[in-house]
Amino acid sequence: MPTITVTQRSGQTQDVAIPAGVSLMEGLRDAGFDEILALCGGCCACATCHVHVAEEWVPRLPVLSEDEDDVLDGSGHRNRQSRLSCQIVITDVLDGLQVRIAQED
Ligand code: FES
Repeated sequence: MPTITVTQRSGQTQDVAIPAGVSLMEGLRDAGFDEILALCGGCCACATCHVHVAEEWVPRLPVLSEDEDDVLDGSGHRNRQSRLSCQIVITDVLDGLQVRIAQED
């Protein structure tokens, strides 16, 4: 099961195992990270599942869709490392992914 390193808004970091096939958002919610509100339930419409991926992981993730790009534009905390965690499906190649939960808008 891929292990993802997660940094919360407080700066606290921990590793979580998330099964392949679920979204990163679902995995984070299931692991108890309640800073991930995911208000739209993963429909790519709210940006409350916003994370920043570590710089070295940016080119290793699937390219973001036009919808994800549009939704992220609504966040005041967007940068080039921004992704919506509901749009990232966990696969074995993401083992070791590092993400930081973005500040709340
Ligand atoms: S959960 Fe709403 S955009 Fe990801």
